[in-house]
Amino acid sequence: MNIKIIKHRSKEYEQMIQLRMEVLRKPLGLQFSDEDLEKEKADILVGVFDEQELIGCCVLTKKDTATLQLRQMAVANSRQQHGIGTAILNAAELIAKEKGYKTLMMHARDVAVGFYKKCSYITVGDVFTEVGIPHYKMTKDLG
Ligand SMILES: CC(C)(COP(=O)(O)OP(=O)(O)OC[C@H]1O[C@@H](n2cnc3c(N)ncnc32)[C@H](O)[C@@H]1OP(=O)(O)O)[C@@H](O)C(=O)NCCC(=O)NCCS
Repeated sequence: MNIKIIKHRSKEYEQMIQLRMEVLRKPLGLQFSDEDLEKEKADILVGVFDEQELIGCCVLTKKDTATLQLRQMAVANSRQQHGIGTAILNAAELIAKEKGYKTLMMHARDVAVGFYKKCSYITVGDVFTEVGIPHYKMTKDLG
């Protein structure tokens, strides 16, 4: 397993979009717009590879000078529950700390709240709707 930063609009980025479509968007009947993807030029794109195969990913977006937001967290359906999500989250925290951020936060789907709780994230505020499904804001102080 190899975790690395992916270049925007590269071949690996295409793999990342396919994985995100499969795991996150298709089940909700949604797609990405080109505008959504163009904005990711400014983001940090993280991928986990098994040889050449992308098996997990996330996107890190600057919210403010102290806060980084984790988005589009996805592990390939056949690879879930094997520690890959935890490895991505650990890598994201390391990147955030190295870049001087104090907090990592996310809008967690309600079905994923238990996963983030296991990694010491706490919910903040009430449930809200995003992409048509319930979410919670979750956050961790990176100390
Ligand atoms: C949620 C997700 C990213 C977790 O990644 P993963 O590789 O499957 O998780 P891990 O194997 O690292 O799990 C770590 C721990 O969290 C638990 N866990 C994993 N997914 C969970 C979930 N959805 N709810 C509750 N607990 C969960 C695991 O059982 C494990 O517990 P353990 O330490 O007691 O054994 C992944 O399952 C996924 O992509 N799911 C579908 C898309 C999704 O919901 N993305 C998140 C959007 S906010």
